[in-house]
Amino acid sequence: MSLCKSASFTRTAISNASIGNIRGLGVDLVYVPRIMALLSRKPVYLTKFTQRILHEAEYVRATSMIDSRGRHDLFIARCWAIKEALFKSLDTSRQSGFRMRDWNTIDTSSPKPTISGGAIHKGEEFFVSVTHDGEYLLAAVIRGQSDQMSQ
Ligand SMILES: CC(C)(COP(=O)(O)OP(=O)(O)OC[C@H]1O[C@@H](n2cnc3c(N)ncnc32)[C@H](O)[C@@H]1OP(=O)(O)O)[C@@H](O)C(=O)NCCC(=O)NCCS
Repeated sequence: MSLCKSASFTRTAISNASIGNIRGLGVDLVYVPRIMALLSRKPVYLTKFTQRILHEAEYVRATSMIDSRGRHDLFIARCWAIKEALFKSLDTSRQSGFRMRDWNTIDTSSPKPTISGGAIHKGEEFFVSVTHDGEYLLAAVIRGQSDQMSQ
């Protein structure tokens, strides 16, 4: 992991959401070959698995990558790790109804990971960072609440 990347993520997160408004933190570490093994099962399984995990926008992106299997599988691993980290950042009451496909981790205008989707509460802000090295991919998510909504 690049230390510069990690420090700049933390600085951005803290300047955007004051420490008092941070409501949750989650991390997840994925062994990418484990995801690749899951995805190399029958095509019908791959479709079911990706539809359960991916938001509509992510599904479109993944489909466009299918010719490059390595890139495609890394993208799925990235989505998985971000959503597991996101799950950990949520309160227990929201974890019970959690569905990965309700959350979108891509921004079509930027390569930076992000979190959007109908499951976000009013005034809630998420800060995401991902890093990968060799066969491992790590995602971190900070959940914040804007000043106006936290009174
Ligand atoms: C609970 C869950 C996040 C654990 O993830 P995991 O990959 O099995 O294990 P990890 O090593 O990443 O994390 C384990 C740690 O998460 C923490 N943890 C456990 N439950 C947690 C929860 N509900 N919220 C936040 N953190 C939790 C614990 O510290 C645990 O460490 P411990 O086992 O030493 O106590 C995961 O099993 C889960 O339920 N995810 C839900 C999201 C989802 O829908 N996933 C798949 C759908 S197809």
